[in-house]
Amino acid sequence: MKATAIASPNIALVKYWGKRDEKLILPQNSSISVVLNNLWIKTTVDWNKKYKQDCCIFNQKEFKKGSKEYDKYIGLFLNKVRKMAGIKLRTKIKSQSNFPLAAGFASSAAGFASLTLAVNKSLELGLKNKELTILARQGSGSSARSIYGGFVEWLAGKKKDGSDSFARQIAVSDYWQDFRMILCLISTKEKKIKSRIGMARAVKTSPMYKGWLATINDDLKKVKNGIIKKDFSLVGKTAEENCLKMHSLALTSKPPVIYWLSGTMDVIQAVIGLREEGVECYFTIDAGPQIKILCLAKNAVRIKKRIKKIKNVQDVIMARPGKEAKITNQHLF
Ligand code: PMV
Repeated sequence: MKATAIASPNIALVKYWGKRDEKLILPQNSSISVVLNNLWIKTTVDWNKKYKQDCCIFNQKEFKKGSKEYDKYIGLFLNKVRKMAGIKLRTKIKSQSNFPLAAGFASSAAGFASLTLAVNKSLELGLKNKELTILARQGSGSSARSIYGGFVEWLAGKKKDGSDSFARQIAVSDYWQDFRMILCLISTKEKKIKSRIGMARAVKTSPMYKGWLATINDDLKKVKNGIIKKDFSLVGKTAEENCLKMHSLALTSKPPVIYWLSGTMDVIQAVIGLREEGVECYFTIDAGPQIKILCLAKNAVRIKKRIKKIKNVQDVIMARPGKEAKITNQHLF
């Protein structure tokens, strides 16, 4: 009962920052993202009586029962899967990525999306896309958006059981061919405060949280319409504003959560400078120091050249809208 899947991370243009249900991972608000090409995580899952305990190896590092990653994230997900499939079997999971994990390149999204697909295949659960996004969501919320390719929205839903909180595609990856995202690597160190902790703290303690919820539907409408009309200015401007609102929730949480490093700030200044020169580009930042620049293909090379000169930027990766998660026969073990 072995299967392997591959999935790409997605970067939110309208962020998910806060849950209405911690156990089922139901968000306070809907969100919209773009799935990236060039970056991927491959995951092989095997269920077998010979395994006495779950064994999870991510990029050569093992996470067992007792480790924070297993007890708080992966183990909880595997228990949900076992309950759903009506099995008691233990599993071996091996993942490999071509980018650093847990540093703000949405590795958990790609990781849980690939795991969900591999689990569905290996246990013959027969889940279709909508149900796959519902299962993936229960590993890490944003992974629901990595089941599809291109531009994707994850609906917050209203129901208590979470059955109306799923992801769906807005546009396929080839729909907007000159849309680019330039990923700027500022640090490969794992962030100290995971998004799960950071967002729960914001819901509880940030005085700005009401303002976030009051303006989110407007951001969602603008970004969705902007994608459909390929209106880059509308998408970029709204995504940048939304990112700054998310980080103002983090900054005003008690105690505060500050994800930016000086390199993050250097890139923000460079983006503002480029805009002043007439090069249209915008930035977005998730729960980590990495910063991503949104631009159109015609400006991408010029922007990349400028960013590469910044001392605190370790690497620059050019990405465009990527494909959906897929099953592959190339197992990792
Ligand atoms: O899905 P999580 O728990 O990794 O949280 C993701 C949070 C952000 O990346 C900051 C925003 C988002 O919508 O992806």
